[in-house]
Amino acid sequence: MSDYPEAGTAGADLFDDEADGATVVDTSFWNQPKVPDYPALAHFGRFEILGRIARGGMAEVYLAREWDEHGKARHLVVKRVLPEMRNDERLLRMFLDEGNVAVRLYHQNVCHVYECGEIDGETFMALEWVWGVSLHSVIERMAARDACIPWPVAVELCAQIASALQYVHHAKGVGGKPLSIVHRDVSPHNVMVSWTGAVKLLDFGIAKTSSEHTTSGTVGKYGYMSPEQAQSQPIDARSDLFSLGVVLYEALTSRALYDRPTLLATLTAVVREPVPSLRAERPELPEPLEHIVGRALAKDPTHRFQSAGEMSAALRQVLRSNGHLVSQQRVALFLDGLYDEEEKKPLNTGSAKLTGSFKALTDEGALAALHVNEELHASFDHALEDPPAAPPAGAPGRSRAGTIALYLAFVVLALVMAGVGAGVALLLMRGALG
Ligand SMILES: Nc1ncnc2c1ncn2[C@@H]1O[C@H](COP(=O)(O)OP(=O)(O)O)[C@@H](O)[C@H]1O
Ligand SMILES: [Mg+2]
Repeated sequence: MSDYPEAGTAGADLFDDEADGATVVDTSFWNQPKVPDYPALAHFGRFEILGRIARGGMAEVYLAREWDEHGKARHLVVKRVLPEMRNDERLLRMFLDEGNVAVRLYHQNVCHVYECGEIDGETFMALEWVWGVSLHSVIERMAARDACIPWPVAVELCAQIASALQYVHHAKGVGGKPLSIVHRDVSPHNVMVSWTGAVKLLDFGIAKTSSEHTTSGTVGKYGYMSPEQAQSQPIDARSDLFSLGVVLYEALTSRALYDRPTLLATLTAVVREPVPSLRAERPELPEPLEHIVGRALAKDPTHRFQSAGEMSAALRQVLRSNGHLVSQQRVALFLDGLYDEEEKKPLNTGSAKLTGSFKALTDEGALAALHVNEELHASFDHALEDPPAAPPAGAPGRSRAGTIALYLAFVVLALVMAGVGAGVALLLMRGALG
């Protein structure tokens, strides 16, 4: 019998209060199934590398396992800088900065970093494994069905991210000094929802503490940046609240708010486009949500929520006044109906089984382990032959922020020159026409 409930069936009666006047509670979906006994594909320090979960612009994310002295295993995530970027000093520093900031943060809605450092000269980070999907994936799935996340669920998820931000923004160092962290990359890709309904904020890759605020630079995902961040102006915690506003809008409408075909058009929309009307898109939503989105998306930070706590309270108030209480179970149940059994497996697709840059580390012991599981063998063999996929062409990596700034400068210069050129041409034409 499967460890996984059939998608969409488990817990189906959970909220069926009509049935014989009694609430039938089926909590089978709530129990996290056992992680398959994956063979170790490679060893990295004390970590066994089981397979790759994701490959980002600067790092690869692996599912890993470690054993304590009593022989008990725990799963975790090992994040490692891409091999081709190992000589990029700036990037390595950014990566370690992320680890050093995140390792101090403890909050139920923040993915915890256990440690960061170097093993055999390789910079890595070991973090809490969130077994689930990104909010981006959930929104994409709803959009593909021409539907939206039930609004109370979307609001609850964003309220929890706001709680995470409230904690992060007010986090203090060991000596009690405020760290003044700004996440700077709040987006649906960096929010994970576990199969058991837990919500976690990830990726403090470009988070900066107060000491680094003076040079804000332009980093982060462009469609989620605040106007001040998009213009490389100094930013504070309220910038993250704008980004969360964009996430909230997208979660409620299944429509990316500032996604435009070009970078310039995206940035222009962020900076200039009037604040959108949520209810123009979904008139059935409660009116206060319109105000919340409008306030979060105010171009001027002084017109926004002044703290993440304030935003979280406003979101919860809408839930309360509409009689909704979204439990963790409710979130789990929602995901359960959206993903099938195969998709819920920790390493579920061909590419997820790649060892990526750990290929070189695969030793004889690990290769022998491949034979343990015949079913997995074929795909691993295939994976070991395939070179890791190249990053998507044209995807703006944050290490390219400088290049992009330069590109923007050229565009502006070109526009100015075109303007001057047109002026001169006009004058010449006038002259020619007498
Ligand atoms: N702790 C984790 N648990 C589960 N999946 C994770 C974890 N960290 C990252 N991921 C997956 O890897 C992806 C990229 O990770 P992230 O830390 O955001 O790296 P990047 O800096 O490349 O954006 C995430 O969108 C998520 O799907
Ligand atoms: Mg990320």
